[in-house]
Amino acid sequence: MTDPLVEAARAVQQRAYAPYSGYRVGAALETDDGSIYVGCNVENASYGLTICAERAAVTAAVAGGARRLRRAVLVTDSDPPAAPCGACRQVLNEFGPDLTVEAVGPARSVRWTMRELLPNAFGPEQLA
Ligand code: THU
Repeated sequence: MTDPLVEAARAVQQRAYAPYSGYRVGAALETDDGSIYVGCNVENASYGLTICAERAAVTAAVAGGARRLRRAVLVTDSDPPAAPCGACRQVLNEFGPDLTVEAVGPARSVRWTMRELLPNAFGPEQLA
């Protein structure tokens, strides 16, 4: 059975701009109303300005009016499948403390909760 979120992440992985690392990442997010937003990594000749796929997808979701994320799918060519980097975990947590994150690689997939990926997170509740 095909999963639309996985298909969206696979499709956007093809659009990654990664001429320096050659490492393509596609991210797809599902919001609490079932909408889907996507992002891919966008590298830059000034390497440190690279934008990760997950954060690109979060900015697209917020620009589209979303506030609550329930699922994230990341597609890479890594085996074992790659989990989001630390910066992306923090940014995903802002809008999805109850998020399920699924990493899809060429051979298998792995699933985590946001709490497993970012235990004892610093989040909006600290500033409330
Ligand atoms: N990358 C992501 O897009 N997401 C991550 O969570 C980890 C790394 C990208 C950044 C860079 O373009 C390439 O992968 C290699 O680090």
